[in-house]
Order: sequence, then structure tokens, then C-alpha cells
Amino acid sequence: MSLSLDATYALMKEKLQGLVPEFELEHKAELAYEINKLKEERNAIILGHNYMEPALFHAVADITGDSLELCRKAAATDKDIIVFCGVEFMAETAKILNPTRKVLIPSKKAGCSLAQSITAADVRQLREQFPGVPVVTYINSYADVKAETDICCTSGNAVKIVNQLESDQVIFIPDEFLAKNVAKQTGKTIIFPETDLNKAMQSGGDLKKVFIGWHGRCEVHELFTVEDIAQVREQYPDVVVLAHPECPPDVVDAADYSGSTSAMIKYVQEVKASRYLLLTECAMADNIIAANRDKEVLRLCSHRCPHMAQITLEDTLASLQNLQYEIHLEEDLRLRAKRSIDRMLEMS
Ligand code: 13P
Ligand code: SF4
Repeated sequence: MSLSLDATYALMKEKLQGLVPEFELEHKAELAYEINKLKEERNAIILGHNYMEPALFHAVADITGDSLELCRKAAATDKDIIVFCGVEFMAETAKILNPTRKVLIPSKKAGCSLAQSITAADVRQLREQFPGVPVVTYINSYADVKAETDICCTSGNAVKIVNQLESDQVIFIPDEFLAKNVAKQTGKTIIFPETDLNKAMQSGGDLKKVFIGWHGRCEVHELFTVEDIAQVREQYPDVVVLAHPECPPDVVDAADYSGSTSAMIKYVQEVKASRYLLLTECAMADNIIAANRDKEVLRLCSHRCPHMAQITLEDTLASLQNLQYEIHLEEDLRLRAKRSIDRMLEMS
């Protein structure tokens, strides 16, 4: 049974105090109450990525997590409707894995700079240029790109997946920085389709163990810099810095820890420190603070993900009311994309 309006308000007030302004809380509680009631009536489940705004994350999402966790939950649910509070490629992944459910995304505008950086034709071209080399694609990609892929990975399992491959050469797309970070951790030299191989060899690269990357970037994480870290460390020498692996390699190197969004949450919960700096979408720090009032979490809110921010409580309610916007995939494409995700789930 969903909570009454008063109980919803009381719960949100307790959880979100200081994070959501008091004048917004009443309105947000009304929306959350309506969403939770309708969710029950429609036999729906709401999956919420860790980047959702605090009211949505804490008051309406049934399951929260990183891309990998939400993939698994989407595949396993027996609810009639999945409302995916995240970005489009995530909702597509839910549809790929659980095609008999109605999968809805509350906004049509929730894209991703990484997913849009590469097309299926680009992947076919890479295969032609590097015949026989397996293609590992970050889950932040659209279904048609996954359909051209051998195996998917997430930020949480990329190293594990690459280490299990038999081939020493891997096409790793589309995130340039994730590729560089994982290449480093798995002992690979990174090259790009336009790299002059003679020059790469002369500069000492081991071209037997190679990652062929792509120049996609996360428009949020690419903006964090080593100077940002240095400034915060100067002010708080005891700060523990956590950076998402979509950050540039020098930022990941200067951080104390790098992991998926859920791995970062777990780290803050489990590792004692006087304060933490999170280099990732700012809303996640609010969500951590709401659940861990004893922790001091610093964040740089000047860099926000405009795509994740499209998903609001208002749109989530409209999504359940009007059953919008439904994800549709052509069956042949879905099955080809599913193979690459299934392989990942088997290996991670
Ligand atoms: P996670 O898989 O770590 O949740 O990352 C998804 C994402 O889009 C990060 O920007
Ligand atoms: Fe895409 Fe970056 Fe936004 Fe994540 S934070 S959804 S990678 S644009």
C-alpha cells in the first residue's frame, strides 16, 4: 500500500531536509504521493539511476543503482510497466532485456553525449578497418550500436570484461576517457582509427596489446580537471577524492578512488574519512548526503548532466498517467543488441 500524502510529506521532510528547499517540498510530496498511488494501480515499477534528483531518487524510485544494477533489475522484473528514470539508452536496455513489459521514459529529451557520439555505420567501418578484432561497447550507447557489438560493458565491469577476452586487441568504444583509463588498468596501448601506427611504435607503444578507441566523451565528466582536485585538496588536505572513470585519465590518476556511480556510493558508506569530494553528476552527492547524514560530501555543481535533469517528478507522473514515452525496438535489432548485453551479464 502506498503511503498517505501526510506520511509521504513527513518521510520526505525527514530525508531531504536542507537538500530540497522547504517551499518545494510540499509540492514535491504531492507529486510523489500521486506517482506512488498510480504506480500501484498500474502495476508499474520505477527504476531510478543514481543521478536522479533527490526527491525522485528517495521518494518514488523502487530500485536505484548504476547502469549495471539497473540492467539486471530491468531484466528480472515481473511488473507490467517499467518507468525508467534515467536516460534513453538505459530505457532501451530495459526494453532489450525485458521486451514483454511496457518500458516508458518520462522525457523524450534525455539523451547522452556518449551515446550520440557513434553510429552503427561507424562500428561497421571500424570492423572493416580492424578485421577480426572484438568490439567492446560501453553501455552508454544506442541499441543499433549495441547490435553491431560483440560484448557490452559498464563502468563497473569494463576491466573485468576486457581481462576475460581472448584477444589482445580490442575495439573499445565510444568513450575516449573510459577507454584510456581501462587500457591503463589492463596493460593496453591506446590508439585511435586515425593513429599513425609507425609513429605509435616509435614512441614505444606495445602494438600487440592494443585498445582501438573512439573520440566520444561525457560532456559532464570531461570538464573535471586536476586543478579542481588541487584546489579542494589545498582547502581540505584530508579530503578523499572519488572520480567516475569517464573523467580524463589525469583526473582519475589524481583521485583516490575511481568506480561506477554505485561503487562510489558504496565507498563513501564504507570507507571512513572526514570528507569526500565527488567528481560526477552533482545530484548524486545530494542523494548520498540524504542517506548518510554523518558524512560530509563535497561536489562541483557547475557541471551538470542536462540529460538526466530532464527527468522530473512532473514528467514521471505524466508518464504514468499517459503511458508515455514508450520505447519501441525492431525485434531483429533488439535480439542482436541483446546478445551483446547477455554476454556482458554472463561475464560480470
Ligand atoms: P554508471 O554506470 O557508473 O552509473 O554511469 C552511468 C553514467 O551515465 C555516468 O555518467
Ligand atoms: Fe551521458 Fe555523461 Fe550524462 Fe552520463 S553524465 S548520461 S555519460 S552525458
